[in-house]
Amino acid sequence: MSILDQVNVDSLVELVQTGNEVGRIFSIDYESALVLTNDLWKRKVNGVPQNAFLIATNIIPEKYSSQEEFDKEIILLRVIGSCKLPQDDDNIRTKLDSIQDSTSFDGNSTSNFDKLTQNMLQFSGLQCRVLGTFYMKNQELQLGSDIENFSASLTQKVYLPKGSALKTIVNYVDPIRKNKSKADFKALGIETEVNPFKIGTVRYTSSDRLQRSEKNDLVPVEIQPSDFLARRTAVLGMTRTGKSNMVKQTVSVVKDISDKSNLPIGQLIFDINGEYANANNQDKGSISDIFRGDCVRYRMMKAEGFESLLINFYEQLSDGFQIIFDTINEEKISIAQDIKTFINGMSFDKPEDIHLQKRYNVMIAIYKCLLYKAGFETPYNTKIYLDANKNIKEIVGKDIPQTIKDVLEWFVTLRNNAENLANEASRTNKDGIKFQWFQMLPSSTKGKYWLDDVSISMLNMIVGKNSSGTPFYGYKSLISSKEYHTAERSSDVKEEIYNHLVNGKIVILDMSVGNANLREKISKDLAKYIFNASMSTFTNAQTPPNIMIYIEEAHNLIGKSMALTDTWPRLAKEGAKYKIGLVYATQEVSSVHPNILANTENWFVTHLNSEKEINELSKFYDFSDFSKSLIRAQDVGFARVKTLSSSYVIPVQIDKFDPNQWIK
Ligand SMILES: Nc1ncnc2c1ncn2[C@@H]1O[C@H](COP(=O)(O)OP(=O)(O)OP(=O)(O)O)[C@@H](O)[C@H]1O
Ligand SMILES: [Mg+2]
Repeated sequence: MSILDQVNVDSLVELVQTGNEVGRIFSIDYESALVLTNDLWKRKVNGVPQNAFLIATNIIPEKYSSQEEFDKEIILLRVIGSCKLPQDDDNIRTKLDSIQDSTSFDGNSTSNFDKLTQNMLQFSGLQCRVLGTFYMKNQELQLGSDIENFSASLTQKVYLPKGSALKTIVNYVDPIRKNKSKADFKALGIETEVNPFKIGTVRYTSSDRLQRSEKNDLVPVEIQPSDFLARRTAVLGMTRTGKSNMVKQTVSVVKDISDKSNLPIGQLIFDINGEYANANNQDKGSISDIFRGDCVRYRMMKAEGFESLLINFYEQLSDGFQIIFDTINEEKISIAQDIKTFINGMSFDKPEDIHLQKRYNVMIAIYKCLLYKAGFETPYNTKIYLDANKNIKEIVGKDIPQTIKDVLEWFVTLRNNAENLANEASRTNKDGIKFQWFQMLPSSTKGKYWLDDVSISMLNMIVGKNSSGTPFYGYKSLISSKEYHTAERSSDVKEEIYNHLVNGKIVILDMSVGNANLREKISKDLAKYIFNASMSTFTNAQTPPNIMIYIEEAHNLIGKSMALTDTWPRLAKEGAKYKIGLVYATQEVSSVHPNILANTENWFVTHLNSEKEINELSKFYDFSDFSKSLIRAQDVGFARVKTLSSSYVIPVQIDKFDPNQWIK
């Protein structure tokens, strides 16, 4: 046997720590096993906590090389409860008798079991789930997720793995998966070796006096960074149990991979509470502090150190109009006909026909004047270039000026003068025909009015009266959209953010300030933009950039009532194809779209407080083993973790995020 074989063979034998024997299997089938243990053994290993890993095997380390091949395997078990032994009822009777006999009236009691009885009484049973089988193949340690056989003769001894053995068990990644993740990384453009990352240490139960008393007892749990890129990760748990802590950890790990492999990975954080963008008293060092040079922060309003998320209504015409459209519709007041015509008829698609283009230009000019009238800030000397035929200009009595303020005035004069002409014409018309003001404007080519319906309605809105002269709310209906506007932006914020992501920046959208509706809208628009941009890169046979997106309160964005064709659900479901990874945090597992849960590769679950949430979670992997513990243990950072690379759920105490670890 070569040295190499020896080393690898040892990795199976090394799992067997003879000093940690805790019992014998006394019943086993393909799914579960019952283990006989006793107080003495349990004491020797510092107790067997619920959910602890156990291993059962016939391997005798000293005799391994001479043992039969058949026996060279280790069954991995998880303690899920206790079980009754046949003699339990008799034992209880004996114990009761003994306690009653030995209790005197003065309250002093003495134990009076003989050695043999004591020995009999101390046995108890553990109920375990079969998680899989470790064995050697091709000189590598393998793990099958079931057992191939079970022996009724029950010779297997059971051990509580600790230290290095436990470390192997909780960090086990099978060789095929390991190679696959290397290939996945390569496909993403990462050629360098990326090491696993420690996220915490094994923790079985909330009370951890015995199992984690010494530093040596703390067994590190590592995750494979390749599990996260272009995948979905759920961070679930009640408030203040460490979800954001986990997100910070992930952002930093991804940043690290990006730096080390020299591959830009853009990260976008929708920061609802402002905790990633700003330092707070509790947790020193926000993500933006740590990665200062590679981080861009956005806010809904102007602030030092932040870019603005607001849009310029004069520049991003259709985005701005969409907000006006939504706000007017949301206000649910009865809407005047002109406003209806305006919001339903407005279109920013420039027509191809040269004549129609002229009308389009007029419409856009009037739209900008309407914004200006409603108080949408823009520099006074903002120019509008527009032309009209001589007859139109004659009605106003002057040429079309250029600054927006003057153009507005020119249009108002045009409308007023035309109204006067219409009144005059109606008054003097013999047949009693009533004329409306726009009919007084010389018609353009093809016999159409110079203004189309939308332009007419907008001019009515500007002056606050309809074509029959009845006053109405008019331009004031735009005022509530004004808070979404900034005069300072000249490019599309979505495109700007996407470019940052392409360049591997961490972009934090600080949503803690500003209007809630806008927050939702901007988030959605941005998600849609990113999805579409990456998708079109992909469909043009190019490689989309690597992007990670982090969302909190995710049930609001990927809720179960949503259609899978909606922006967020679509991004969650299909984003991976276009190299968009999603990390979503929520405390409401049951409210998340089931289809997205089903497509989630990584899970970090801390305390959940209701049966409803637990039941939902229990449908996935072996989380049902932790139902009781998840509802009971409220400890911060005590998570049950299932990653793509691991074959079963591992209970972990997550490390507190340490800014110093990342500051360069
Ligand atoms: N693993 C951990 N170890 C120690 N402290 C932690 C750990 N995780 C989080 N904390 C601390 O607990 C507090 C709450 O954590 P965090 O903000 O991550 O929780 P959360 O689940 O995101 O809460 P919320 O629902 O309010 O967003 C923070 O002060 C944080 O520093
Ligand atoms: Mg949080």
